[in-house]
This record gives sequence, structure tokens and C-alpha cells, in this order.
Amino acid sequence: MSLRARISTPEEHGSRGEDGHLVASYRAKLLEEIDLAEMSSLAAAERRARLERVLGHIISREGPVLSTVERSQLIRRVVDEALGLGILEPLLEDASITEIMVNGPDAIFVERGGRVEQLPLRFVSADQLMQTIERIVSTVNRRVDESNPMVDARLPSGERVNVIIPPLSLTGPILTIRRFPRSFTLQELISFGSLDEQMVYLLAGLVQAKFNIIVSGATGTGKTTLLNALSGLIPSHERIITIEDSAELQLQQSHVVRLESRPPNVEGKGQVSIRDLVRNSLRMRPDRIVVGEVRGGESLDMLQAMSTGHDGSLATVHANSAEDALTRLQTLASMSDVEVPFVALHDQINSAVDVLVQLTRFADGARRITEIALLDSHGGDPYRLATVARFDARPMTPDGRVYGTFQYFPLPRRTADRLYMASQPVPQAFGVAHSADQLATREAR
Ligand SMILES: Nc1ncnc2c1ncn2[C@@H]1O[C@H](COP(=O)(O)OP(=O)(O)OP(=O)(O)O)[C@@H](O)[C@H]1O
Ligand SMILES: [Mg+2]
Repeated sequence: MSLRARISTPEEHGSRGEDGHLVASYRAKLLEEIDLAEMSSLAAAERRARLERVLGHIISREGPVLSTVERSQLIRRVVDEALGLGILEPLLEDASITEIMVNGPDAIFVERGGRVEQLPLRFVSADQLMQTIERIVSTVNRRVDESNPMVDARLPSGERVNVIIPPLSLTGPILTIRRFPRSFTLQELISFGSLDEQMVYLLAGLVQAKFNIIVSGATGTGKTTLLNALSGLIPSHERIITIEDSAELQLQQSHVVRLESRPPNVEGKGQVSIRDLVRNSLRMRPDRIVVGEVRGGESLDMLQAMSTGHDGSLATVHANSAEDALTRLQTLASMSDVEVPFVALHDQINSAVDVLVQLTRFADGARRITEIALLDSHGGDPYRLATVARFDARPMTPDGRVYGTFQYFPLPRRTADRLYMASQPVPQAFGVAHSADQLATREAR
């Protein structure tokens, strides 16, 4: 086989055989001549440029005769491996990729523009994949092995990493890397068709009038992205405390305190939970509390905070519908160590939650607000949800796209009054219901 074929075909990239040895031997030579640790102060681009230069010299000095293309491909592969993440390196650099999913050494998938595709790449072996994984988790002081086979970590550059290895995984080590999501403005979200201008007017009024808002959706539906954009509507004189598992929010206001929870260390000590942070934040004189994702007993503390003077708080929860979100908050709150009777929790939610914003990811990858609902019930009454905006999807087109329209419904009187008292207009598209039968309501338990 020609050297060109050995180095350049994508199918061969990372495969076993002669080219693998070539890469490995140059990698060893490169590491003999350069101390990677010494270069850790350099910016990534410069570190790469330097390694490429040194390797170029080594190849000219003792390597085979290569064409320009072969030479640059060899350099690229050796440097990729030396820098640590091997074949993942170019994927991490590719800004159009939002998620990298490695399902064992032979199957690498990426998500681009909401669509998932398999790449013609593979690791040489499960061992090589494991080494890459170990390198990733060790940079953040975590360990992965049989006694600790599941690890969540965040790279210094912000990417979120999850690792799960055999025997829990049946198809070899599994690595999932979520790119640090870039933030989008509400204008950008409008241009994607995720919501429209009328809905932004309404949401802006609700945020400024300090309604408590829960953003709900399944995994990857854009909850954090929307939470970030909505948080941007909070007036800049307010003191905002953000609480997250892995800090993703990028608020632009000047008075923001960012808190991040901490997993236990290798000895299982030192954990600080979202719940601890929510409790602590109440002693920090917040005007607003923004909780990245409610997924445990902190639900109770957050609901209590929301109904006792910390109005205008924002949070996301993992749920498939507005009513699911309420049930989920209730279930999570009941997981807390404080025992609160079911009826009291129900009451708590009725007084704490004002608005539910439901997100959905469609088959074509688009993320949209599929409902904005107001919680219009009190005390121990069953939850009554008043839909004020809804996305009506049309059947999928032959090329797999989903189109539809946003519908608006009148606001409950109580909501309109609260907006009025905060000098926020009721956007015309919605209007105000004059009687209960004009509302698009439904009950939930
Ligand atoms: N409205 C949108 N239109 C297009 N892409 C979006 C939209 N919202 C989010 N995304 C992209 O979708 C991906 C997931 O977004 P995000 O992290 O906000 O979702 P999430 O629901 O918070 O996910 P998780 O459940 O994992 O926390 C990111 O790459 C983000 O940039
Ligand atoms: Mg999120």
C-alpha cells in the first residue's frame, strides 16, 4: 500500500497497522524532544504550531520522503495524538459540532445542526479509547475505573463530559462530550423560529414583572439556552445569583454571583449540592435566583424561596409537558429530607410557580417553545394551566422538516393585573380574558 493511502484515507484514520506504527513512533520522537508540561502556559493554537514545527524538523531529518499532502497529514495526526485527544482533537475544534458521542472504539457519532451522523473514524482499540478517556478525566482530577465506572466532568474549556465504562456499558467505553453551548440572544432564537416576537414581548413583561418562571423540556431541547436568554431580560440593577451543576449560563449583567456545585472527590468527600447552594444563596440577599436545572431535593428550597419573597426566579426542569413539570417539581421536592405532606407541596407549587415554558426538539433538529402556560390555581386546588401561547405543528414535509404556527390565547385577568401593576403592557396578540370561558385552561393533578 502506498504511503499516501496509508496516511490519508479516512477509513484508515486511527486504524491498526503500519501507519499506526508510523504515527506512534513519531509521537514518541516528538515527545522525546519536547516537554509538553513546559508548554502548558501557551495558548492552544501556539502549542500546536510549535509541536508542528518541531515535528516538521524531525521528519525532514530522519523521515521517509513524503509529498506535501502526506507530510502535513502525518504531522497533523502525530500532533493530534501528542496533544492528547487523538482523533477527537479535530472534532473538538470543529465549531459546527455540538455533541461528540463515542460508542466504543468503532463507532463515533457527532451532532451537527441538530442532526446526528456517524463519522468514518475509529480508535485503534478499546485500550486506546480508554487511554484517551483517562487523559480527559485526569485533567479535571477525576478517576475512572471499575470501582468508579461513571464519571461526569467538565473540561477547562467548558465542554461537558460523561464517561461510562464496562461492565456497565456492554459495548466498550462510552464517551459523550457536549460542546459548551454558545449563547443565543432572543433575536437569534426568533430567527431560528424557536419563538416569535409576540412571545418575546410577553416573556419580557413576565420577567420584568417578577413572575417565577420554569423552563421545561427533555434533554437537549434548549432549556439552558432559553434560560440564559430570558435571564438577559432581568434589569441590570438587580442582584442575580445563578446556581448550576456545571456553569453554562453567561449572564451579561454586572451584578451577578455565579455558584457551581461540586461533586465528591475521589475519596467521596467534599460534595456541595445544588440544594446546599440554594439554601446558602437565600442568605446572600438575592433579588433573583436562577437555578440551572432542578433535579433533586433543592426543588423544595427553591419553591419555598419563590413563594416567600424571592419573586422573579427562574429555573429549568426536565419534563415533557407543562403538567409533567409540575409533577416533577413535586416529586423532587418530596425527595428532600424534610417531610412535607403531599397537600402542602401542592399548595407550595400553586403559590410558587407562575409560568411554565415548554420546549420541544423536533425531528428535524429544530428547538421550539411549544407552550407558554400560566399556573392559574391557588392553595390546594388542582393545578389549572392556562395556555397563552402554543406551537401548532403541521405534518412533517417529505424532506423531514417540521413547520407550523404559533397561536395566542388571552391572559388570565390576574396575570394582566400583575403586569399592569409592574407597568408592563399586555402584548396585543394575546389580550385579556374577560370571563373564564375565554381562557384555554386545563386541569392537572
Ligand atoms: N432554539 C434553539 N435553536 C437551535 N439550537 C439550539 C436552540 N436552543 C439550544 N440549541 C442548541 O441545542 C443544544 C442543547 O442546548 P441546551 O444545552 O440549551 O439544552 P438543554 O435542554 O439545557 O440540555 P440538557 O438537558 O442537557 O441540560 C446546544 O448545542 C444549543 O446550542
Ligand atoms: Mg441544560
